[in-house]
Amino acid sequence: MINEKDKIILEVSSLKKHYPIRKKSFSKTKQHVKSVDGVSFTIKENKILGLVGESGCGKSTIGKTILGLTPPTGGKVVYRDDVIFDVENNIKLSSNEMTKLRSEIQIIFQDPYASLDPRKSVGQIVAEGMKKHKIVPKNEIEQKTKEMLELCGMDATSMFRYPHEFSGGQRQRIGIARALAMNPSFIVCDEPTAALDVSIQSQILNLMLDLKEQFGLTYLFISHNFSVVKSFCDEIVVMYLGQIVEQGDAKEVYHNPKHPYTKALISSVPIQHPGEVKERITLEGSIPSAVDVPNGCRFHTRCSYKMERCERENPKWKLLDNGSGAACHLYD
Ligand SMILES: Nc1ncnc2c1ncn2[C@@H]1O[C@H](COP(=O)(O)OP(=O)(O)O)[C@@H](O)[C@H]1O
Ligand SMILES: [Mg+2]
Repeated sequence: MINEKDKIILEVSSLKKHYPIRKKSFSKTKQHVKSVDGVSFTIKENKILGLVGESGCGKSTIGKTILGLTPPTGGKVVYRDDVIFDVENNIKLSSNEMTKLRSEIQIIFQDPYASLDPRKSVGQIVAEGMKKHKIVPKNEIEQKTKEMLELCGMDATSMFRYPHEFSGGQRQRIGIARALAMNPSFIVCDEPTAALDVSIQSQILNLMLDLKEQFGLTYLFISHNFSVVKSFCDEIVVMYLGQIVEQGDAKEVYHNPKHPYTKALISSVPIQHPGEVKERITLEGSIPSAVDVPNGCRFHTRCSYKMERCERENPKWKLLDNGSGAACHLYD
C-alpha cells in the first residue's frame, strides 16, 4: 500500500514539446525547436519539486504543457486520477473536465508587473477566477477576496487600489492571493521571485512555505537559481537542453551532485559562509541551440569530463548509490 504521505499528485511521462520553425526556402525538412524532449518525473502530494536549469532549457514549457496552455507533442501527464493528456494513445481531457481542473491547478508567474492587468483593481484581479469558477457564492466574494489578501500579507483595503500603486514584492503577493482564491491543490510557480530584490525574495518564499503548510499545497517550483531551489525544495530535477540530467533529494543533489552539469551549476552559486570550500567548475561556451541538439550526450560540448563515447552515445538514466538518478557515462 502506498503511504498516504507519498501519494503522487502529478506524473509526467516522456513529455515532449517541439515547436515548428519556419522552413528556410532551401531546406526540405521542417525544423523544430526541441524545447522539451522526453521528460519524466513525479511530484508527491504536499512536497515541493524544484525544476532547475539555465534559461532556455525548457522549464517554462513544461509548466505550460502541464497546465494545457500549449499543446504537447508527445508523452503523458496524469493529475491524481485524471489523464490530462496521453498523446500516443490519443487521450485528452474534455474541455469541461479541464475547466474543472483549472481551479485546482494554478500558476504564479515570474513577472509581477506583466501578470496583473493594470486596468483592473486588485479586488477585481483576485476575484476574477473565483467568479468564473463559482468558487464561493456571489455574496461571499468580497469577504473571501479580503481574506486572501490578508493571508498573503496585504491590507484588505488594497482591493480598492490598482497594481501600479504597489511594489514588485506586493504585486507578487497579489498574484499569490489570486492563485490561492481558487482553492488550489497544486501550483506551478514559474520563477516567482526571480524579478525581486534578494531581501524581498525570502519574504515571498516564506509566505509560500506558510501557505503550503496551512493549505496542504504541492508546488512545482521552477527556477534558474540553485541557491533558492536547494533550501526551498524537497526534490530537485536538473534540466539541460530539454532533458533531465539529474534528479534526487534536494540536499543530496546540492551537497553530492553527480552529473557534471549539476556540479557546474552548483559551483557558480556564491559561497554561503566563510570557510566553505567548493570545487570550481566553469561552464564553457554557451548552451547549444535547441534546434540542432548535439549528438550523443547533449552536454558533451561543454563538459570537462568528456570521453570519446559521449560524442556518440546518449547516456541512459541510471539510479546511483546515493538515491539520485543521473544520465551520464561516468556512471556506466
Ligand atoms: N512559442 C514558442 N515558439 C518557439 N520556440 C519557443 C516557444 N516558447 C519557447 N520556445 C523555445 O523553447 C526553448 C525553451 O524555452 P523555455 O521553456 O521558455 O525555457 P526556460 O523557461 O527554461 O527558460 C527555448 O529555446 C525557447 O526559445
Ligand atoms: Mg522560463
